[in-house]
Amino acid sequence: MQAIVIDAFGGPEHMALRDIPEPVPQAGEVLVRIDYAGVNPIDWKLREGMMAKVFPHHFPLTLGWDASGAIVQVGAGVDRGCIGQAVFAYCRQFGAPAQHGTYAQYIALPAALAVPAPPNLSAAQAAAIPAAALTAWQGLFDAGALRRAETVLILGGAGGVGTLAIQLARHAGACVFATASEGNHALLAALGADAAIDYDGGALEAAVRQLAPGGVDLVFDCVGGAYLTLGPRLARRGGRLVAIAGAPDAELARELGVSAERIVVGANPAQLRQVANLLATGQIVAPPVEELALHQAALAHARSKAGHVRGKLVLRIPH
Ligand SMILES: NC(=O)c1ccc[n+]([C@@H]2O[C@H](COP(=O)([O-])OP(=O)(O)OC[C@H]3O[C@@H](n4cnc5c(N)ncnc54)[C@H](OP(=O)(O)O)[C@@H]3O)[C@@H](O)[C@H]2O)c1
Repeated sequence: MQAIVIDAFGGPEHMALRDIPEPVPQAGEVLVRIDYAGVNPIDWKLREGMMAKVFPHHFPLTLGWDASGAIVQVGAGVDRGCIGQAVFAYCRQFGAPAQHGTYAQYIALPAALAVPAPPNLSAAQAAAIPAAALTAWQGLFDAGALRRAETVLILGGAGGVGTLAIQLARHAGACVFATASEGNHALLAALGADAAIDYDGGALEAAVRQLAPGGVDLVFDCVGGAYLTLGPRLARRGGRLVAIAGAPDAELARELGVSAERIVVGANPAQLRQVANLLATGQIVAPPVEELALHQAALAHARSKAGHVRGKLVLRIPH
């Protein structure tokens, strides 16, 4: 099968489209024909070796952790009735080395991880969901303990995680503030943000103080960088900060009486099924999605690394 593979960490030139053996589903696994692979910032971070110490890995390594497609074969012990089912999945398996990713025509994975895709989404839209939605869910609800009527500030509202986080927080009954460049404010409002805040010009803190004078109940930081120290100042005393793109300033957070935590997303098919249900019933919608071809993976990584993808990029897998 065709796949985008790396033999060593490094620049985009390390990515090669080549033929590798098609996986064979083992007991308890399904084989998924991948129609689209979601592109996440972790893909280029992994490729560049930034995560080498965090994730065990084996070369040759096929990149990509998000997939949409259909089950085409099952391993021993899996009911054949699922063959043909359209599915989407977050394919990283906790503890397993990174090696068999989704920038490929097929992937074998535990049957439980392949969740029926919402029928009203295109395959391209479905591939945009798993990692971003699970990160938003786990950040807002598992770590962030967000409750109805609380205020939440989502730093980075226009990206893959942010566009889903705004909607999930809103659906949970929270009052949602989100940051993005001005050109994306209409998108944030359409997704349900109560206020869209520009992050240029250093006026962010003042804008948040105006909306929530004592600070918000929860800050969800999807950007990192300077926000790792600014974030704790934006939460109220006794409030929470959850960060996904770096470790927040723990000492500052302690001084300010804010509990701060950095999380790493994990596969959770039960949560993905709940997200699928919200999508299928129109309670949330897929982020804006831009398609590129599998052989354009280097372009996709350059776009992702530049930091201004609106919604999600996905790669179309040829068959
Ligand atoms: N810990 C985990 O498990 C985990 C899981 C998923 C993602 N992440 C990390 O979390 C980050 C976000 O992921 P993602 O998939 O949402 O990324 P993404 O889709 O690439 O995010 C791009 C968005 O970031 C916005 N942005 C850039 N600079 C900003 C700033 N200073 N303030 C506000 N918004 C800004 C851009 O909006 P504008 O164009 O309007 O600036 C753009 O829409 C990445 O670093 C990723 O690696 C971590």
